[in-house]
Amino acid sequence: MRIITSVAELRELLAQARGAGKSIGLVPTMGYFHEGHLSLMRQCRESDDVVVVSLFVNPTQFGPGEDYEEYPRDPERDAAMAQEVGVDVLFTPSAAEMYPPGDATFVEVTGELTAVLCGARRPGHFRGVATVVTKLFNIVRPNRAYFGEKDYQQLLVVRRLTQDLRLPVEIVAVRTVREPDGLAMSSRNTRLGPKEREAATVLYRSLRAAQELASSGARDAQQILARVREIVAAEPLATLQYAELRDAETLAPVEHIAGRAVLALAAHVGGVRLIDNLIIAGG
Ligand code: PAJ
Repeated sequence: MRIITSVAELRELLAQARGAGKSIGLVPTMGYFHEGHLSLMRQCRESDDVVVVSLFVNPTQFGPGEDYEEYPRDPERDAAMAQEVGVDVLFTPSAAEMYPPGDATFVEVTGELTAVLCGARRPGHFRGVATVVTKLFNIVRPNRAYFGEKDYQQLLVVRRLTQDLRLPVEIVAVRTVREPDGLAMSSRNTRLGPKEREAATVLYRSLRAAQELASSGARDAQQILARVREIVAAEPLATLQYAELRDAETLAPVEHIAGRAVLALAAHVGGVRLIDNLIIAGG
């Protein structure tokens, strides 16, 4: 595995691979790897000749007062884990390499896709994500790029920008990897104390209860969301930020479930903000 920090060096290496007819896969990450990240890398390893993983804690997607400084980092452990799953190139640029001096360009997906859910609570977050992902796509020029369904809104934002900017990359969605008790894996889980870690299972428990309600015939969004709120409210260490049912493609609000809807929620457990979602099929 090569560890590369320079855009020029990475471009040269990938130009050779492309010239030799090899397909290139990209897995963008902010590091502190867990099984969720590794599952993206493994899927990329199966489909692409060259597996590129980027590891960059992107400052522009963190708002003032968010956890950019506290975001967990362990580049050596990450490199060992990436090597283990057969990653070819680990791209670990500095902030100046991704945002050169004088940098003044952003990519912004507008409209409902970024105005709701996390977009409403984290102003500028998806602008930062869209900008860094576009930069990575321009640098790596991957045939395929892999994103987790765990960050469902992010996946839709990336799909949108890829279509709108006519970028020649296939976006591959990867299922959410969970702990045995259902908690979605996240780099931020390591910041939970033992009591908070236990309390954090309330996110998935409430999602599952909602899914069961829907599979037993409930179609009314308010009824389903009331169940979610009730379950989260019973956990004193968790504070719900939002729980919403939205169209799984457009994120338009859903009152009566007919097609595919996403039930998305965000909650604070201790000082840590966690998100999760499940697809709920109506019809
Ligand atoms: P990060 O949180 O490190 O996540 C990197 C990728 O791993 C994302 O596509 C995310 O959806 C996926 N992922 C995280 N937890 C997962 C889980 N439990 N199961 C499956 N996939 C999971 O998301 C980001 O970084 C950044 O916003 C990034 C896209 C790299 C742009 O900076």
